[in-house]
Amino acid sequence: MVKNSKSNDKCLPEWGSSYVYSVDEEKAIKATINKAKDAFLFADLYDQLYPGYSGDLEYYKSKGSQGRVLYLGVGTGRILIPILQNNPNVLGIDKSHEMLQNLIKKLPNLKANNILFKDIEKAKLPSNSFDVILAPYSFFQFIQRDHFPRILLKLNKALKPGGKLYTDIFSPFWTDFRSRHIEKAVRTYKDNTEALFYLHVNHQSQEADEYACVYTPNGKEIVLKMHMQYYYPLEVMTLFKKAHFTKTIISGGYHNERFSVSGSDLMVIEAIK
Ligand SMILES: C[S@@+](CC[C@H](N)C(=O)[O-])C[C@H]1O[C@@H](n2cnc3c(N)ncnc32)[C@H](O)[C@@H]1O
Repeated sequence: MVKNSKSNDKCLPEWGSSYVYSVDEEKAIKATINKAKDAFLFADLYDQLYPGYSGDLEYYKSKGSQGRVLYLGVGTGRILIPILQNNPNVLGIDKSHEMLQNLIKKLPNLKANNILFKDIEKAKLPSNSFDVILAPYSFFQFIQRDHFPRILLKLNKALKPGGKLYTDIFSPFWTDFRSRHIEKAVRTYKDNTEALFYLHVNHQSQEADEYACVYTPNGKEIVLKMHMQYYYPLEVMTLFKKAHFTKTIISGGYHNERFSVSGSDLMVIEAIK
């Protein structure tokens, strides 16, 4: 049903606008998304489906250009590879075997001391060791909410005094609080692969499930899921403060734009130890 309605989908609004589905449409969407598998298992599709936030590559490349860098969730290397070209002093962590295999395919001579196959929750990090920690593309939104404070404490400990952590998370104000909580975007890719993205937001638990229903040119349907937490600006400030960061700055973009509830899609966060 979702697939058959593709021609009409092109007329649907982009993210953030409300669109009310009929009960039948909603049932069909739910049947499709019930087949979803963890998006990070499909590393080959990842790069084309998830190209990053606009402007994030330049930002993280410049923040990671000097000093000892810890990079959380390196994925398939979209940002890690350009950083390594300027700064070999980077330790990248990821818990997904599939994502790291894809990275190694792109960079076969990746050095063992640049990469750690580990869940950040379990990783033992040396104290006072890193000048910079990078956590791009909503990394912390994949961390279970009640584990986040403990991880921030661990990261604060791993930073050198005055060290900085850079990350981003999507603005909760970007979703439509009055919609029926399923929003949608449609994208077509070079090889005629099409993807319908659904965002299912639960404002009570501050969780979002993003689904990508991918239709390959040979008629295959693959449904991917990302489960994310989201946070409000005041919560972010409090979380970092409790983890002993001395200063936390939230911007509305990668060029120090002022964060605005109505105008910013992202919170770009810089936290200083
Ligand atoms: C949205 S992707 C970002 C990948 C890459 N940084 C980019 O910008 O394209 C998030 C990555 O974080 C990894 N990840 C999620 N939770 C993690 C955890 N607890 N420990 C380590 N890696 C994790 C995932 O496997 C995935 O590769």
